[in-house]
Amino acid sequence: MAAVEKRVRLNADPDFWPGKDHAPMTGVDVREDCVKIFWADGRVGHFHPLWLRDNCLSPSCYHPEAWEKIQDLLAVDPEDRPASAVLGADGELEIHWASDGHVSRFPGPWLRRNCYDDWALEERRPHRVLWDAAIAGERPEVDFTAVMQTRDGLRDWIYKLRTYGFCIVTDAPKRSGVVTAAARRIGFLRETHFGTDYSVESKPNPENVAYTAIELKTHNDLSNCEAPPGIQFLHCIEFEATGGESILVDGFAASEKLRGMDPDAFDLLAQTPVVARFHDYDWDIRHRAPTIAVDHNGVVQELRVNRQLEAPLDIPNEKVKPFIKAKQALVRMLRAPEQEYRFKLRPGEIMSFHNRRVLHGRAAFDPNSGRRKLEGCYVDCDQAWSRLRVLERAE
Ligand SMILES: [Fe+2]
Repeated sequence: MAAVEKRVRLNADPDFWPGKDHAPMTGVDVREDCVKIFWADGRVGHFHPLWLRDNCLSPSCYHPEAWEKIQDLLAVDPEDRPASAVLGADGELEIHWASDGHVSRFPGPWLRRNCYDDWALEERRPHRVLWDAAIAGERPEVDFTAVMQTRDGLRDWIYKLRTYGFCIVTDAPKRSGVVTAAARRIGFLRETHFGTDYSVESKPNPENVAYTAIELKTHNDLSNCEAPPGIQFLHCIEFEATGGESILVDGFAASEKLRGMDPDAFDLLAQTPVVARFHDYDWDIRHRAPTIAVDHNGVVQELRVNRQLEAPLDIPNEKVKPFIKAKQALVRMLRAPEQEYRFKLRPGEIMSFHNRRVLHGRAAFDPNSGRRKLEGCYVDCDQAWSRLRVLERAE
């Protein structure tokens, strides 16, 4: 059967379509608290009957055009169980429910995409490569024209951003406005108190240290925000000055090293929310969060390291010394030469990176030795990962 016919038959929702490595269901086995599904590639999924009833895909439970759940939670009977569960001739799992005779049909690809066994969660976890200074020999890059004009180029860019936390776009035009056009390929620009885009150049009477020629230690931008921007873009338009190398460091890799060497320091940073703050005449933006955020599995999700935005600590006195020592241990790790990737960003290159993972900095430069102009903007991660998922759908 042609792919197009299949889509029409099942549902327009792409979660229902067979993927590239589609393995059909070959069997079903119903037990008291578990519906076992067997796939042709040898995988076995374990679904709770209540989970299946709760996720019923019939048109009265799941809107076939909106692709959203419309079944009322309170209409779900927690005691319901399948009166029968069989693989239909069309390859779908068909369940007749004991309580009310309701019928649910689940396409194999949908069950596979939503299977929640450990192996399935692992199979779907995005590939993440932690790196150190050795990345210099094989840094992730994409070509500007490919990114702007092709689906594969755009997918490659976002995939590298998600995997490595950074990617350099090469051979971009050296003019203003290019960075926002490239970023918009990924998603909406994230507006901040800097505006939707900004330029970084040395200028007199700076209101922010980023606009001076002094060294900028590696940091995460806007750690004072409730959600610091996800993907940051910095486009080099002119760079004749001497010095001013860019520095990138994988905060996830450094945090994991810290966890291995000094677990108490890691735990303190992960468990002590502290305030970061930006204030000027118009703004006073504050947020309290841990320096290292981990998910419920203990996997590092984001860092907030920005010395300029640290508010005075307001933690119990007995924690002040251990906290500052722990933060020093993290920063020492982040600044270790074996962790840092240092390079000169050339005109026509766009440095893109996951701001909450990869810290960025800049060596000092001599503003009298030549011009230096960068333009930047942000796009949030949910936009980027959404774009990647859509691009990765089977065509
Ligand atoms: Fe910055």
